[in-house]
Amino acid sequence: MATHLIELSPVDMQRRLGDALSIYVDAMRYPRGTEEQRASMWLEHTRRHGWKAVAAVQTGDGASPEADLAAAPMLGIAYGYCGAPDQWWQQQVVAGLRRSGADTERIATLMSSYFELTELHIVPSAQGRGLGEALIRRLLGDRGEAHVLLSTPEITGEGNRAWRLYRRLGFTDVIRGYHFAGDPRAFAILGRSLPL
Ligand SMILES: CC(C)(COP(=O)(O)OP(=O)(O)OC[C@H]1O[C@@H](n2cnc3c(N)ncnc32)[C@H](O)[C@@H]1OP(=O)(O)O)[C@@H](O)C(=O)NCCC(=O)NCCS
Repeated sequence: MATHLIELSPVDMQRRLGDALSIYVDAMRYPRGTEEQRASMWLEHTRRHGWKAVAAVQTGDGASPEADLAAAPMLGIAYGYCGAPDQWWQQQVVAGLRRSGADTERIATLMSSYFELTELHIVPSAQGRGLGEALIRRLLGDRGEAHVLLSTPEITGEGNRAWRLYRRLGFTDVIRGYHFAGDPRAFAILGRSLPL
């Protein structure tokens, strides 16, 4: 078996949306059915400025022509886009920054040019092999924004693979213990400068 990273176009994402959402639900251990709630949002994201998606796919031994990669089983998915003031996530982050006492200049600097790393998920059976890091590096390798920002659930002692990965890649705290509107869970907003 060989693993390849491929970039997905919006059309590819639409075609493989079921696979990508299934990885998301398994990786996050969300209940089945969450896929349907997320589908229209993920498709809407493909139309945002600067949207980019990368998938890890697996092929059998031997030759793997491009045509096969487009249909090869997916092991992981990562995507994001350029942050903008009309996006709910940016509005939430700005509110959180204000509440945490960040000054106007810091907020303007962060918000003026960033890539939002929106989703990053590896199917549980393929986790712990470096695929998440490979996806993030491919996704962020050629960005023109000044920063990357992401949110991840808070967990005691930063004790999971997502946290270890982000710290290893140099992500630092932007806001901690943040509650997005309508979600009881606490999140951390992390960021770092680009290029990675
Ligand atoms: C978070 C997540 C994307 C990280 O991806 P991953 O592929 O599992 O992890 P990484 O790329 O960071 O790889 C780290 C592990 O691979 C190992 N590794 C790294 N490079 C490797 C390589 N070239 N060959 C083999 N193993 C390697 C590391 O030793 C490490 O193992 P350890 O965690 O047991 O110490 C993934 O675990 C996941 O989907 N988790 C659930 C969903 C989630 O939390 N998503 C993020 C929400 S914000």
